[in-house]
Amino acid sequence: MNTEELMQIALDMSGFKEKPADSQIFVRGDDIKRILFGVDVNAAGLMLAKQLNFDAIVAHHPPGSEAQIYGMPKVMLRHIDQMKSVGISEKNAKKALEVIRGKISRQRNVINYDRVTSVAKLLEIPFLNIHTPVDAITKKYFDDYIDSFLSSNKSAKVSDLIKSLNEIDEISKGLTKPALRIGDEESPVGKFFVAISAGTSGGAAIAKAYFKAGINTLLYMHLGEGDYKKLKKEKIKGNLIVTGHMPSDSIGINIYLNELEKRGIFVQRFSGVIA
Ligand SMILES: [Fe+2]
Ligand SMILES: [Fe+2]
Repeated sequence: MNTEELMQIALDMSGFKEKPADSQIFVRGDDIKRILFGVDVNAAGLMLAKQLNFDAIVAHHPPGSEAQIYGMPKVMLRHIDQMKSVGISEKNAKKALEVIRGKISRQRNVINYDRVTSVAKLLEIPFLNIHTPVDAITKKYFDDYIDSFLSSNKSAKVSDLIKSLNEIDEISKGLTKPALRIGDEESPVGKFFVAISAGTSGGAAIAKAYFKAGINTLLYMHLGEGDYKKLKKEKIKGNLIVTGHMPSDSIGINIYLNELEKRGIFVQRFSGVIA
């Protein structure tokens, strides 16, 4: 297998016709039989892959280059489509997104985007990252899981949903657990939305837009401290569950890696992937 095929399998599994901008092949390679896969890969990870004789190393989060600088702000536009899917107007969706997208875009200017990817080039080790396709697999998993949970528990409370989420394999094994950041555990789940696979979590402004549009329970992988305080202070009505970053990313990653293993690739999981 080559690096392009590793990428294409993820695109096919997640229904992407084209590679999203936050996923990239930094050093291409052929004849790949053994890969090392981590949520985050730094220079030490690349050295490790070389030392342990892996044929390629794959990261989930963009480790640098165009994927990080241009890719993340670009895939964040997916928040607009997600918000529109629950009836939020394009104008309001764009306004809500701009708060967090502006912050992320400005941060890009600070980063040394070459720190990790330049090391892979010097080591000549095949290196790529697959971000949004894998997150789209995670979102679909959560959507299907919660749909089926609610179909057999019509009047489920938020606490029941959290209990059920804890039974997902990666979450049960993970150190961080789903938690209710905003809202009332005793309230019904009601209308839910899984806001995952748009680069990064939407923060306070996007959460508010969902609640205003009638979503009762919103799921994020994670919520920053500043956004948490903002929502707390404004006494927003709605439930915001954080599912936990590493366990949630691991769900989509494992579905993808299981497919590679089926095709005969040896996979070593590390750096945040819950096996
Ligand atoms: Fe992710
Ligand atoms: Fe992530």
